[in-house]
Amino acid sequence: MRIVYFSVDRDEDKWLPGLRAALPGADVSLWEPGSAAADYAIVWKPPQQLLNEQTRLKAIFNTGAGVDALMKLNLPDGVPLIRLDDAGMAVQMAEYVCHALIRHFREFDAYEADTRAGKWSYRKPLSRADFPVGIMGLGVLGARVARAVAQFDFPVNGWSQSVKALPGVQCFAGRTQLSDFLAASRVLVCLLPLTADTQGILNHAHLSHLQSGGYVINVARGAHLVDADLLALIDSGHLSGATLDVFRTEPLPAEHLFWTHPKITVTPHTSARTLRSESIAQIAGKLVALARGDVVAGVVDRAHGY
Ligand code: NAP
Ligand code: GLV
Repeated sequence: MRIVYFSVDRDEDKWLPGLRAALPGADVSLWEPGSAAADYAIVWKPPQQLLNEQTRLKAIFNTGAGVDALMKLNLPDGVPLIRLDDAGMAVQMAEYVCHALIRHFREFDAYEADTRAGKWSYRKPLSRADFPVGIMGLGVLGARVARAVAQFDFPVNGWSQSVKALPGVQCFAGRTQLSDFLAASRVLVCLLPLTADTQGILNHAHLSHLQSGGYVINVARGAHLVDADLLALIDSGHLSGATLDVFRTEPLPAEHLFWTHPKITVTPHTSARTLRSESIAQIAGKLVALARGDVVAGVVDRAHGY
């Protein structure tokens, strides 16, 4: 079995030894222009040339959860595209979102400013009933985040494409229930895949439906958010701020207003990192299963785009 690996991050020196150890019978090499035909490709943001040249692929593995970069390419018909399915990302996402939520709800920034000024001051406790959390996307990551947030006794709303029932989550589905979902939420967490349907979904019209004092946590993709709309709604006072991990252009350009906005926290696309050993174990397991003719989880529905 021949496997090619390529990542735009040029981290093959770290991945190839792990892949070779996990797949001892396979010939695993870095893809370069002109590489011999392989059975499987393991990739992150590959160039179109890889897909044009590798005409005998039986499956393509994406070393991330989101496949939006791959969906922009001309993919070979009938070749399954398999994304990472948790692989250690869900618990990281739960940590990140709970941290951002609790930092906001418990007013830790204000306490920090006070204590740095040598002030021992109490703030009136806020009620978590007044901070319903809305999670857009109830997939592998969104469902894990919903569970973690619910464990802190926040009211939790969830929104997905298909109808769901999750313990402790008031579930909404489809565009017809989007306004009701937003109106029931004060803190909004975006964990949607980036598709034609979800691009720009965090826009002025939708964010205006959030309860007054709303707070946005975007951990999905930068292109979900209309940057100017978020800034306008914070400046108008309808929104109280945002924590943003993902941006339309990454790294976030030095001149972007998000860097210095006092009500916006920026992190460098780090909320849920691909963990190499977990990911290699998952990909190797699925690759062996596929080669045996078994069905595997995490196959992207090309029509839906995720
Ligand atoms: P997933 O399992 O595919 O879940 C996607 C969820 O979004 C599903 O619940 C789906 O609904 C819902 N959805 C999709 N399109 C929708 C639409 N048009 N309207 C309403 N709901 C819609 O994906 P995942 O593994 O949780 O990952 C989600 C995203 O997180 C990834 O695509 C990626 O962009 C992002 N991510 C970011 C980081 C980071 O470090 N910042 C790390 C990993 C992933 P159904 O359940 O009904 O299909
Ligand atoms: C990271 O953003 C991923 O999609 O895995």
